[in-house]
Amino acid sequence: MEHFVIVGQKPLSGKVYISGAKNAAVAIIPATLASEGVCTIENLPNIEDVSNFVLALKKMGVKCKLLDKSTLRIDARNVNPMLVSQEILKDMRASYYLLGALLGRLGYAQVPLPGGCNFGQRPIDQHIKGFEALGATVVIEHGTVKVKADKLIGSNVYLDMASVGATINIMMAAVYAEGTTTIENAAREPHIVDCANFLNMCGANIKGAGTDIIRITGVDSLKGCSYAIIPDQIETGTYMIASAITGGDVTVCNVIPKHMESLTAKLSEMGCETQSGDDWIRVKSSGNLEAANVKTLYYPGFPTDLQPQMTALLACAKGTSFVTESVFPNRFQYVDQLMRLGVKIKIDGRMAVVEGPARLTGTEVIATDLRAGASLVVAALAATGITKISNVHYIDRGYQDLEYKLSSLGANIQRVTTNELPTVVEA
Ligand code: EPU
Repeated sequence: MEHFVIVGQKPLSGKVYISGAKNAAVAIIPATLASEGVCTIENLPNIEDVSNFVLALKKMGVKCKLLDKSTLRIDARNVNPMLVSQEILKDMRASYYLLGALLGRLGYAQVPLPGGCNFGQRPIDQHIKGFEALGATVVIEHGTVKVKADKLIGSNVYLDMASVGATINIMMAAVYAEGTTTIENAAREPHIVDCANFLNMCGANIKGAGTDIIRITGVDSLKGCSYAIIPDQIETGTYMIASAITGGDVTVCNVIPKHMESLTAKLSEMGCETQSGDDWIRVKSSGNLEAANVKTLYYPGFPTDLQPQMTALLACAKGTSFVTESVFPNRFQYVDQLMRLGVKIKIDGRMAVVEGPARLTGTEVIATDLRAGASLVVAALAATGITKISNVHYIDRGYQDLEYKLSSLGANIQRVTTNELPTVVEA
C-alpha cells in the first residue's frame, strides 16, 4: 500500500510541464483498433489507465511497442475482439471505447460493463442508443456488453445529454457506417476534438467535432498515422489550483490556455493574478482569496473533473461559496475526507455550501477516487502539519509523476509504502 505524505504550507513556485491528456489517450488508444494500419501515438501520459489499456490490447493480440517514454506504436492489424480481459478492463470506464472502435471494423465487440470512478449511477444507454441507430444489436449478458452488426448504416442520433463517452463511441463506430451519421447535442470537450482529429488523420471523414453537431461520412478503411495527444486540461487545472491555494507563483507549461478559460476566469475573480501566452499560464496568488460560486457544466463550462480540487480551494477563500455539480448527481462523496482536514462544507443535493476561510490541519485521509484524491493533495498543500493520503493508486490513474512535479515546485511530498517511515518530519 502506498501513501502520500505531505507537509503543507509551502508556497509553490516555478514551472511545471503538463503531460498528455488522460481522457484523450484512453479514447485514442482504442481508436487505433479501428485502423487497419500501424499508428504511432505521441505525448502519451505515463499513468495507470494508459498502461492498463496497453496491457489489455496486448492480450487481444495487438502489438504495442514503446518507442520512448511517451510514444507508443500500435499495430492492431491482427486483433481478436473475443480476448478482452475482464480482469484488466472491469475497473476502467474507457474500456467502452473498444465497442465503437471494433464494431465498425470487425462487426463485433464485447467489453465488461464499464467501471471507473464511483459517482453513483453511470449508465451507458446513450452509447447503446447510438449503436442501435446505426443498425447494431446490443446485448448485456453476465456483466458483458456485446455489440454486433453485419453492416452499419449512417443515421441521426440525438443525445439526451451531451455525454463525452457516447459522443466518442458513436463517432468511432460511424466512421465505417455507410452514408452520413449526425450526432446532435454532441459533447464538445477538447478530447473529443482530439479523437476526431486522430481518426481524420487515419482517413476518416468527421466534421464538426468541438460543436454540438458532428457529421461523420463513412469510409471503407482507415490507414495508420502518427499523432500527438493534446495536453491534459485537468492536470493543468490541478496545478493552477495548487498555486492559488498555497499563495504560490506557478507557470504551467505545455498547455492550451483556451481549454482553461473557465478556471482562469474563476481564479481571477477570486483574486489571483493570471497571465497566459501561447502554451503557458501563470497563476500568482497572495493567498488572500475571495469566495466564488462554481457550477460544473459540459465544456466550455467549468469541468466536473476540477470540482473537487476547486472545492478545496474555495474552502480557503474568505466568505461563502456555492458549488453546484450538474454533470454527475453524486459527485460530493469525497467531502467527508476533505472535512477531516478542516474544510467547512454542507451538502444539499447537487449543491455544496463552503464556508471559508477554513484553517486546514493535516491528518490521515483516504482518496476515494481520482479527482477526490487530487483535491486532498491540494488541500494538504495548504494545511498545517502532516497529511497522510492513502489509496494513491486512484491518483496514479490520472496524474503522471505527481510527487516529482510538485516537489520541483517546492512542495514537501513523499510517496511511502506501508511501514516505511517518511523522511519528512519537519512540520
Ligand atoms: N450519462 C447517461 N447515459 C449515458 C452516458 C452518460 O445518463 O449513456 C450521464 C452520466 O451518468 C453523467 C453525464 O451523462 O451524469 C455525463 O457523462 P459522460 O458520458 O459525459 O461521462 P463519461 O464519458 O462517463 C468522461 C470522463 C470523465 C468525466 C466525464 C465528464 C473519460 C474516460 N471519462 O466520463 O472523467 O468526468 O466525461 O466530463 O473520458 C476523470 O477523468 O476523473 C473522469 C471521471
